[in-house]
Order: sequence, then structure tokens, then C-alpha cells
Amino acid sequence: MKKNIILFVVGVALSLNACKVSSQSKKTPQQEKNIEQKVDSVLALMTLEEKVGQMVQYNGSWDVTGPATGTTNEKKLQRLKNGLVGSMLNVVSVESTREAQRLTMENSRLKIPLIFGYDVIHGYKTMFPVPLGETASWDMILAEKTAAAAARETAASGVHWTFAPMMDISRDARWGRIMEGAGEDPFLNAEIAVARVKGFQGSDLASEKTIAACAKHFAGYGFAEAGRDYNTVNIGVHELHNTILPPFKAAAKAGVATFMNSFNEIDGVPATSSSYLQRELLKDGWAWDGFIVSDWGSISEMIPHGIARNKKEAALLAVKGGSDMDMEGGAYESSLESLVEEDKISETLLDDSVRRILRVKFQLGLFDDPYKYCDESFEETELYSEENQDLALEAAKKSIVLLKNENEILPIKNSVKSIAVIGPLADDKDSPLGNWRAQAEANSAVSVLEGVKNYAPKNVQINYAEGVKLSTGERSFLKPLSLNQTDKSGFEQAINLAKTSDLVVLVVGEDAYQTGEGRSQTDVGFLGLQDELMAEIQKVNPNVVMILMNGRPMDLTWSDENFPAILETWLLGSQHGNAVAEVLFGKHNPSGKLPVSFPRNVGQEPLYYNQKSTGRPNANAEVTYSHYTDSDRDALFPFGFGLSYTDFEYGKIQLSKNKFSASEEITASIEVKNTGDMAGEEVVQLYIRDLFASITRPIKELKGFEKISLQPGESKTVSFTIDAELLSYFGGDKKWVTDPGKFQLFIGGNSVDLQQIEFEYE
Ligand code: NOJ
Repeated sequence: MKKNIILFVVGVALSLNACKVSSQSKKTPQQEKNIEQKVDSVLALMTLEEKVGQMVQYNGSWDVTGPATGTTNEKKLQRLKNGLVGSMLNVVSVESTREAQRLTMENSRLKIPLIFGYDVIHGYKTMFPVPLGETASWDMILAEKTAAAAARETAASGVHWTFAPMMDISRDARWGRIMEGAGEDPFLNAEIAVARVKGFQGSDLASEKTIAACAKHFAGYGFAEAGRDYNTVNIGVHELHNTILPPFKAAAKAGVATFMNSFNEIDGVPATSSSYLQRELLKDGWAWDGFIVSDWGSISEMIPHGIARNKKEAALLAVKGGSDMDMEGGAYESSLESLVEEDKISETLLDDSVRRILRVKFQLGLFDDPYKYCDESFEETELYSEENQDLALEAAKKSIVLLKNENEILPIKNSVKSIAVIGPLADDKDSPLGNWRAQAEANSAVSVLEGVKNYAPKNVQINYAEGVKLSTGERSFLKPLSLNQTDKSGFEQAINLAKTSDLVVLVVGEDAYQTGEGRSQTDVGFLGLQDELMAEIQKVNPNVVMILMNGRPMDLTWSDENFPAILETWLLGSQHGNAVAEVLFGKHNPSGKLPVSFPRNVGQEPLYYNQKSTGRPNANAEVTYSHYTDSDRDALFPFGFGLSYTDFEYGKIQLSKNKFSASEEITASIEVKNTGDMAGEEVVQLYIRDLFASITRPIKELKGFEKISLQPGESKTVSFTIDAELLSYFGGDKKWVTDPGKFQLFIGGNSVDLQQIEFEYE
């Protein structure tokens, strides 16, 4: 992709021959006022055509995530020179961004700098774990650090803005983009969204080491029916507010500079044209003053949605709805001016959008120096630095979840003298990079095999067999994967190796391109011939440690019944293999906890822990209650679950009082002790249930967590403060309320194994 982008910009050069983002920025009210004055003074000089230009975003290459506008390179070049483009995406590197910026700065009338955006989802050149994986660390400081490192690499490449973090709650393992988010829980999503926004933006957007973040996709995209990407979303207003919006609201409050709207419709209204979401809630209700970019072509997609006959009608709907910038859709470019001239919209509507866009450009410092992010020496030292590799390793280790460890087969014992590393992903140096991999070099990750070789004691024999290929052919963002393997010729070698080794490390799961945009599946099991290979290996050696690589929750029912140990390793980025090896050999004690429920079979999806009671929750009846007749209804591995090499013992919950009122708060405390003989970390989780409310409420909801570190024998007391706000919800009268009455409070190490106590709010 990089090649295309450079080609476009260099090609262009040749033919020339030539929001108050207040809480995150350290700006004083006076500085903010100054920015507002500058914005107004620029706006006052702008023609209608130039205003529309600021609302247009062009792609630097073609067909990256959807059909492009069809605007030719020649026309793009002319518009850039005339100052009729506000932003470009997918233009990366100091060389390319400087060139594109120069075209605008040296030729346009008002010299308004471009803002360059890019999908930096879990790293720029150094890859960190995919966002779902990193969420399993439940480590907000870590999430902030990896976002900050990604921001430094991005900024060092001349790019000002990332289209991240994605904060779409998803409860559906079939949805390919579940990998890009933080899982199924609103509270955890909100915490991590804020951490990532802080990491990207730092305390000063104008620093050359920070970039603007983007809260996406606003809203409901992760609730696509049947988990099919881009599909219809049908949710009620309570679900919207209580489940989907909390991370967005938290990001807005944290000063995220931009939002991106979403491809989907909700209850008949495409998010791109939703003035309820974009104007009533975000811009007015939450008083957020950044700008909203559409998703790729989502404005023009209102034509196939069937609510606009042509681009002009689509532009009208979108601009009225509150979308400020058109990402590679061509609708604003072709229609906004005439819509104003025909009095269909007033120019002040555009002024509001342009003001928002200019504000972010001022906050980034681009008016002071449009080339301030163009520093080759910083680019050279920052990208893929040793420091970033160390952080990638730390993040990767902390994201690993130990799902099963029968007879303490892990960490690998000294008695093991030979290890067979088997599986289609065992020596895959590419899949750990994930699907959204920005500028990562293909095949640059440390594979599991390499990691095992790096960390195994010298006297241990390491052998490798691929067994079977998972995918064949080219791997790329825009090409479907070929996963229909029929070639079993590698089976024999793998089986023989398993037979003659003390231990098997079996690396299976998903190719990097099985998750991501447009990658929904109806099967969340092991595709290709993996099931067969797994069964054959299990027959000849019972000592199998399964290493799972994947971007979605998978059906592990068979594996759980047949393998003594399972490590969930997601797609961990550049240092994947080293991180896995540190866990295998006991150099790192795993502490990750699942941010999503893992099903027993795909038929349970969507599956989530914070479900409603229903009117028939109990098995009092033989048949007529809410369950399945062919499967349990609960998760195989629940939300919040993850084992450690040590044991943690929870004391009794202590409440500071049993009743409290609006002006008060109560504290729930619990002592946690490391009773094993290895130091370890535990995520102590607080859940609450509102027993009677004006609308039906979940059977429990995560309301707090703390990750603690304990030496063997050490204890710590963890305390959570509960106040009326923590208990509030968007209720029956469409307002945030806290109902008086009884609540259950639970504390434990996952969403199922919990202690319980009751309190009352008066
Ligand atoms: C479409 C995706 O939905 C969005 O997340 C991404 O930022 C844009 N394409 C730009 O690549």
C-alpha cells in the first residue's frame, strides 16, 4: 500500500514539475480564546468554495477500503493546489506528506494546511497487540503507553491524525471487526478508550510527538445483525445509551479531537445522517467541539441505503445530520456549493463544520508550521526503535490469557527435553501483525517458533513441523483469503514429531486476515484442516499446549476437552513469539483476562455476560425457560476469565455501610492474597446489579476493576467507591437516573466466580 501512496504523491509532484479539546490540552482559557479568534479570522476570509474544500478528504491511493470517488489524480491535484481539499488519508512518510502539503501551501490562496489521517489501529511500524488482545491486559497505563508510542511513530512520519481508537462494543464473535475494539463491556471499553485517547493526544496536541485521535464508529456499528459487517443495526434507545454510547461519551469528555461516524443504519436512519447522534447528543448534549469525519464513502452510501436518490441528496442529509468532512465520497465536493446557492442549506451550517476543522488544525499547530511533523531525523530514529520493541514485548506478554492449565503442565518443566512446535501458525511471521498493520513490514514479527528457540534452555531439543497450511495465496487487505485446504501431505511429519517429543506446542487459530473489515464468518471454529491435524496430534501425545492465535472469540469446546493447556495469544504484534515463549518458560506469569465471552458453539452468538434476566431465567421448568435444548446457555470461558501460574484467594467483601443516599458514597473492600509460590498479577473485578428499575437491567455489570501485583504470600486490600452516578442508567423517562432500592454487589476474578453482598440506595 505504501508504494501506491508514494506513487500518487510523487506522481503529483512530477506532473507539477515541480472542541474544545480542553481536558486533554494544557491550553489556558486565554489560549483557547486565541484559537477561536484565529479560526474566525480565517473563516471570514474564505469563499464558499474554499469552505466546502475544507470539508473534503481525499485518499492518497486507490480503492483502499471501498470504492473511491472516481475523482481523477489530475482533478485532485488541481483541487489541492487551489486549496480545495481539507485533508488526505493514506499519505504517509515525511517525504510524501511534505510534498502534498507543499502543493497546497505554495499554490493556494489562503494557505490552509492539510491534515493527514491514517489508520494507526495498533501501531504504525512497531506493531502492538490487536486492540481486543491488548484489552485483555486490563492495563490502562499500558494502553496509554502503546498509543503514545504509536503516536510518536506516526507523527515522525508526517501524519497528524489516527482513525482510532475504535470503541464499538461487540458481542458477536462472527463480526470480523471485533478484533479492532475492546470487547463486549461498556465500562471496560470506556476506560480503555480514554487511555488510548490520552496516549495518542498526550497533554498537548501541538507537540510533534502527539497526534489527534478519532472516536469511531459513531454509533452502533458493532451491533451489525448476525455479525455480518455493514449490516443493519436494530437497537432501542436504552441499549444505545446504556451499552453503546458510554465509551464515546467518555472519549468526548477526555477531549478526543475527532469522531468518525459509521456505515450502519440504526432503526432506519444511517448514522451518517443522524442528527440525533451527531448534533443532539454529541455536539449539543456533550458540548463537544471537534469535527466528525464520515467513514469511507458513507455519505454516498446513503444512495444504496435507499434514502438518497443521488450524491446531492446524500450530501444534504449528511451535512444536516452533522457530518463535517466527507471521506473519499465525492458528495460534498460535488454538491455542497449548489445546495447553499439553491438555499437548501445555509452557509452558516458549513461555517460550523469548517470552524471545527480549522480548530483542530490550529490545535495541532499546523498554522504555525505546516511542516512541523516533517522531520526526517525523527522519522529515522523513532520508527521501530528499540524502546518501542521493548514496549511491544511488554504489551504482548500482558495480553496473553491462560485459559487452561491442567496438572500445571505450564510453565514448561525442566524434565521436558524435547519440544515439537507444530501448526500452520507456528512459524508465521506475518499473522501476528494483524489485519490493520499500517506500515509494518510484512513477515516482520517474531514467530512462536523463533520465540521458543530464543527462550528454550540450551539442552532442550526444538523441532518444527507446519503440519498443514492455513491459507494459501496472497494475503492482503482487499483480497479474500483462500482457506480451503485439502493438502494433508505435512500431516505425517507432524504426527511423527509429536510422537517422539516430550511436549507439543501446537499453534493454531486464525490467519491475520480472518478478522478485520469485511471479514465476518459464520463459523468461529478452526478452518481448513486444522481440526483434523489437532485430533491426530492429540492421539499420539497427550502433552499438548495449545497456542491460540486469533482476532475473535473462537469455539474451543473440543480443544478444552482434549488438551491440557490453552494459551490465548491473539495477534500480539511485532514481538508475538518472544512474549509467548516468556509465558511458556515461566519468565512471565500470565495475567490477562478475557474482554469477551468465548462461546461453546457459534449458535450462542451474540453472547455476553451482562445479559438481561428475561421473565424466565431459571430452570424451574423442564423446558419452557430461556435456554437451549442442545447446549448450555453460558459461555465456555466467561468475560473477565483468565488463570495465573499462582493462586489468589479472595477474603470477604466488606461494605462501609449497607445503605446510602444521593450525597453519600459507600466503599466495598476485599482482601486478596497470593497463596501460590510465584509472584503474579490479578485483575480484581467489581460487578453490580440493579434489582428493580424503571427498565429491565442486566443481571450484572462491570463497574470497577483494579490490577494488583502480589508476591507469594502477600495480601492487598482493594477498595471500590460506589456513588449514585456509578449506579445510574438511561431510564424509562429517557433520562439518566439512579433508582432507590436494592442492589447486588459482586467481587471476584472473573464475571462468574464472584462473591456477593447487597446494599441499598435511598
Ligand atoms: C473504513 C473503515 O470502516 C474505517 O474504520 C477506516 O478508518 C476507514 N475505512 C479509512 O481507512
